[in-house]
Amino acid sequence: MSHDKVEIFDTSLRDGEQVPGCKLNTEQKLIIAKELDELGVDVIEAGFAVSSPGDFNSIVAISKLVKNARVCSLSRAVENDIKVAAESITYAKRPRIHTGIGTSDSHIKYKFKSNREEIIQRAYDAVSYAKTFVEDVEFYAEDAGRTDNDYLAKVCEVAIKAGATVLNIPDTTGYCLPSEYGAKIKYLKENVKNIDKAIISCHCHNDLGLATANSIEAVINGARQVECTINGIGERAGNTALEEIVMILKQHPYLNFDTNINTKHLFKLSQLISKHMGISPQPNKAIVGANAFAHSSGIHQDGVIKRRDTYEIIDPADVGVTESAIILTARSGRAALAYKAKNVGYDLTKLQLDEVYANFLNFADQRKEVNDEDIHQIIETSKVYRDIMSA
Ligand code: KIV
Ligand code: ZN
Repeated sequence: MSHDKVEIFDTSLRDGEQVPGCKLNTEQKLIIAKELDELGVDVIEAGFAVSSPGDFNSIVAISKLVKNARVCSLSRAVENDIKVAAESITYAKRPRIHTGIGTSDSHIKYKFKSNREEIIQRAYDAVSYAKTFVEDVEFYAEDAGRTDNDYLAKVCEVAIKAGATVLNIPDTTGYCLPSEYGAKIKYLKENVKNIDKAIISCHCHNDLGLATANSIEAVINGARQVECTINGIGERAGNTALEEIVMILKQHPYLNFDTNINTKHLFKLSQLISKHMGISPQPNKAIVGANAFAHSSGIHQDGVIKRRDTYEIIDPADVGVTESAIILTARSGRAALAYKAKNVGYDLTKLQLDEVYANFLNFADQRKEVNDEDIHQIIETSKVYRDIMSA
């Protein structure tokens, strides 16, 4: 069966960089942009040009560097923002302007002190103006998650009329349930005139831990671009994690979608972002966390040693992790101890293992983890040590 292509729009350098204390300089952004291009993302959102001279210069430098991906520059629906965004991507091989405005009643009333009709006009004007600079214009309806579907459809229709090539439907506050967000995308697919002239993009935040689930529901219901960040970094609880989306689409046979991503680079990118931003994903983070391929309970270790896929649905090599890890703790069994002992040079018989295992448990109960050096020590202080060495 032929698979539909889902475009990956990486916003680590824009939405991701909005994490307090994680600002990157131009040199760091260039290192990351180069790797993102090699990873195979379709779009790199390089920054918010009007926000500072530093961000503007970074976008210019990234535009010059990137070979394959589109380079996108963010703006509000404000003429000067759009002009500056256009200037920042002059050197890009495939430039995109990302412009838009808040569409929820809360944004319209409290942020803009405006009304629905005026916002529709501003959306039209922003996209039309951006089109005077570049062909590829993405429109975002900020807080679309809390915007009623009927009004949102009208805004999208107008953005398409003005020439938008991509319609971004952000769940800015991470508010929606997956079923609700999926239904929103379906509603737009079915009710926006000329919807086939634009790609629908999902952009989800993780305030309720639903960003990945919401993005997947969006794809199932017709979105063909996912906006995401490496390690899910971003404002507050973060954005959709790129590595999760990519591996879900790759891993699930009943989701018939492809991306351009070379998944073997995922772990490397995760480490690179952690290093430059100074924050690591939590150990239990899906795909890239330190424990994502680590097994510590006896039952699981026994299964994985016999056959990796008894407890792993992803081959670590597929995401660039060298191998699954067997971590020895007081919950580990004989199989794991024998396996680790063999790795450090001891091939134990069943009887030898019985004694070493009893010593191991006493030792492990006092520790959080038992490492290779500890194994040597446990074996060297066992009664059967001579036996083992003379075999
Ligand atoms: O979350 C959001 O709504 C955004 C837009 C600026 C695209 O990041
Ligand atoms: Zn966002």
